[in-house]
Amino acid sequence: MSTTELGEPFASPAAQDLEHQYLIQNYSRYPLLLRRGKGCYVYDSTGKRYLDLIAGIGVNALGHSHPRIVKAIREQAALLIHCSNLYYHDFQGPLAKRLAETSGLARVFFTNSGTEAMEGALKMIRSHGRRISEEKFEIVSLENSFHGRTLGALSVTGQAKYRRDFEPLLPGVRFVPPNDLGALEAAVGENTSGIVIEAIQGEGGVYPVSVEYLRKARELADRHNALLVFDEIQCGVGRPGTYYAYQLAEPVVLPDVMVAAKPIACGLPLGAIVADEEAAATIGPGMHGSTFGGGALACRVALEFFDILDGLLPSISKTGGCFRTELIELARHFGFIKEVRGFGLMIGVELDIPGKQFVTDAMEEGMLINCTHDVVLRFLPPYIITEGEVDRAVEKLKKIFKKSAVRPVQA
Ligand SMILES: Cc1ncc(COP(=O)(O)O)c(C=O)c1O
Repeated sequence: MSTTELGEPFASPAAQDLEHQYLIQNYSRYPLLLRRGKGCYVYDSTGKRYLDLIAGIGVNALGHSHPRIVKAIREQAALLIHCSNLYYHDFQGPLAKRLAETSGLARVFFTNSGTEAMEGALKMIRSHGRRISEEKFEIVSLENSFHGRTLGALSVTGQAKYRRDFEPLLPGVRFVPPNDLGALEAAVGENTSGIVIEAIQGEGGVYPVSVEYLRKARELADRHNALLVFDEIQCGVGRPGTYYAYQLAEPVVLPDVMVAAKPIACGLPLGAIVADEEAAATIGPGMHGSTFGGGALACRVALEFFDILDGLLPSISKTGGCFRTELIELARHFGFIKEVRGFGLMIGVELDIPGKQFVTDAMEEGMLINCTHDVVLRFLPPYIITEGEVDRAVEKLKKIFKKSAVRPVQA
């Protein structure tokens, strides 16, 4: 075991050294070697236990080693893992039905990741516009948004730091500030073929977009015959306490296309583009495809997940509500907490000091959290988290916040 800057043995030097030598050095990992997980906890190579409030960045919706997910994986792995999209298997059809029924949309294309789903949605936008006019290829997206790392998804990601090394990207993308109805109206016109929105910006710091803004986007998309695409990759599939974040609005603001991924197969790679009939018709035979997308194993697990999720939605709202209430109470004791935001189990705590140190402090205390945009502590816990676990998390936060009162916080 190596001794890390955290002063405790974490990752094995062999694992670290090999990664340093052989991996492309794009990730800066915490010195933590995780070996197993159970429920809302993960365990490192020394056996130390951590309450997991980031859950693989919003992926491990049912926590770790959920017995029904493990059983589904075991059974299906022994039957059929993958058979390509040349043939039928038992699970794509039923899973597409669940996605259509829960979203209010009609048809599904399966992918392996969020960014791949966004690429497909962008192709739909382009194909839709092109059928009307060659000039109709513009896309309106939001500042501070995040839609993935592939070139198309990057082109609509409203943060220069992710885009700048790869420019020039797709032409015709305009970025507008979230919640500025006038700016949105000014940006959308007859050459707009699509509007792309995360109803709750996740990576951008857990910023919900207002219902009025979503409605205005719907109205403008209808007026100018553009496709309205909602990115539900982080904020959707149960996390907000509804199936999808756009369903928090009453009445629901229905997009033409919705993309989902992260939690959908509880850790197996799976994403989906879900579209209404008209948007789905923009992709004809041979226009799109994916070798791995919608494999038998991933789809079976996702179906199992949806069966469990149906019963979990009320507790996601309730436990998330308790979590936010406790965090707001915490804010009364620590002046550096600026705001607590979010819905369901997608919560951001904005600080007016850097948050990075709290992530390592939390790790020392046996808890995994994340900091985005330097100052927003982001919580994306498993949907099965209990109120008792939330209480424990808030106790730990109180402890680490108290420490910061006695030492200067490092940037
Ligand atoms: C809102 C949103 N869209 C797209 C993506 C990209 O998904 P993936 O990393 O699965 O490609 C992410 C990932 O964090 C996301 O949060």
